[in-house]
Amino acid sequence: MRAGTFLKLNSKLRPNSYLARSNPGDVARMEDRTFIATARERDAGPTNNWADPADMRRTLNRLFDGCMRGRTLYVVAFSMGPVGSHIAHIGVELTDSAYVAVSMRIMTRMGRMVVDQLGADGAFIPCVHSVGAPLAEGELDVAWPCNNEEKWIVHFPETREIWSYGSGYGGNALLGKKCLALRIASVMARDEGWLAEHMLILGIESPEGGKAYVSAAFPSACGKTNLAMLIPPESLSAWKVTTVGEDIAWIKPGKDGRFHAINPEAGFFGVAPGTSVATNPNAMATMRANAIFTNVALTPDGDVWWEGMTDDPPEKLVDWQGGEWTPSCGRLAAHPNARFTVPARQCPSMDARWEDPDGVPISAFVFGGRRADTVPLITEAGSWTEGVYMAATLGSETTAATTGKVGVVRRDPMAMLAFCGYHMGDYLGHWLRVGRGVSAPPKMFRVNWFRRDSHGRFLWPGFGENMRVLKWIVERCDGTAGATSTALGAMPGWEDLVWTGMDGFSRAAFEELMRVDPIKWGDECQSHQELFDLLGDRVPVELTEVKDALRRAVSGS
Ligand code: GTP
Ligand code: SPV
Ligand code: MN
Repeated sequence: MRAGTFLKLNSKLRPNSYLARSNPGDVARMEDRTFIATARERDAGPTNNWADPADMRRTLNRLFDGCMRGRTLYVVAFSMGPVGSHIAHIGVELTDSAYVAVSMRIMTRMGRMVVDQLGADGAFIPCVHSVGAPLAEGELDVAWPCNNEEKWIVHFPETREIWSYGSGYGGNALLGKKCLALRIASVMARDEGWLAEHMLILGIESPEGGKAYVSAAFPSACGKTNLAMLIPPESLSAWKVTTVGEDIAWIKPGKDGRFHAINPEAGFFGVAPGTSVATNPNAMATMRANAIFTNVALTPDGDVWWEGMTDDPPEKLVDWQGGEWTPSCGRLAAHPNARFTVPARQCPSMDARWEDPDGVPISAFVFGGRRADTVPLITEAGSWTEGVYMAATLGSETTAATTGKVGVVRRDPMAMLAFCGYHMGDYLGHWLRVGRGVSAPPKMFRVNWFRRDSHGRFLWPGFGENMRVLKWIVERCDGTAGATSTALGAMPGWEDLVWTGMDGFSRAAFEELMRVDPIKWGDECQSHQELFDLLGDRVPVELTEVKDALRRAVSGS
């Protein structure tokens, strides 16, 4: 607080909570500054930025030499997963950012108990982080130090090391999250026969008392947090959704022939804009206290606000850059990738087993992207191989969660494009293999909450109403829900979903939402082909066969 990094919010309205405003050039993950340094370029694959490890070490040694001068070095010992769990892994992050140290305390299990767990010779993943802004003798610090010229987020999968320089933001700097729990963990998972995925994990309790767990992958800012803590609509209130995780899942084959998943994190680093009592009451309740807000707006009474939090904006705010803001000023009050950082245990919907060291058994995998057209609301894959194909060819419009262009469709296999620490073609092969290694693999589904009509309006209300789709998924898993077989897979007809409580939604709108346009699907198959061409001969041949069959099916030949 003394350095200006944190501004304390009104302790009556938002107890023990703080606002941080980042440097305007340090607001999201930087995929073009993220590197995988492997001895052979082909092991990083065509979807990663590869770097030669020796060259990279020279660069990093130059950058890190004296980079923390004048700052405090924090030693952050943390566990991804419950401390002592056989699924957990320990990391130690050295950082010169107080913001990072404090955020890691929320996002991971960190501190003395982790040091004790390590003992004198325990294994850990070394993570080194600097904001890259040394202070000269007597130089005054800024509220959000970072390096505007150089940013590097570097992974050495072969020696399991992480080095990050120049950014203090989110996935660039909280190294337990994307760097360890996804990029390095995906390599460990490949070597050890498990999965490290960009997935939420949720529990679904049926009115009859049955319980199923579902894990779902969506690209950044495409609705994982929302789905993970969904509250069913009034008409389905006999159903209950509980939360195990909302961003990352570590999934291991169990002796029972099923996959078991844990959430390696202890907190949520969630997208603020669009989050409201209407869209996500559980997230709003979670952030009532003990929260860090980054790049949101400040109200005159010392609370926070962002676009979508309320229908009407406050008359006056301080925006995310610290400037005066009024509704007519023409600027956003919060940055589109503004985030809240909160302890998961404060979330009212946390599942009773969310910290179970053995994980929860997964009944279904769901994959979803942001697609304005082409992709129907829900489709079920006919087999594990077809499901892996569906997931491998996931496409989504890019969002504000990463720097760069927003709104262009890109292929994002398993929502892991930015997070797979090795060759994407090998990763697809790994998925095929681990699924075949268990006797009861989950059923696989693809969803799209984001299809639009010809006026650009969302066809599907989404949020709580997604429960209707989750219900169908669970009932498909226990064989009680009906479906129609199509070129894309099994899809529900109008009569296979419940519509009570959704009077304004017409059968015609549903048909439009589920429509499979042969021309659009021809283009879609072409785009799948381009992904496979990019990945080259490491694409498993089974997936090429599924692609050819799909192309024939959608063209009706
Ligand atoms: P990361 O934390 O970046 O990995 O993202 P996430 O997948 O957890 O994203 P999050 O749940 O925070 O999604 C944020 C955006 O998705 C917000 O703009 C929401 O309004 C929007 N969103 C979430 N669910 C739905 C939905 O069912 N329908 C529509 N139309 N938008 C949704
Ligand atoms: C994402 O971009 O998928 C996130 C946010 O979950 S960050 O931690 O910044 O990567
Ligand atoms: Mn994420």
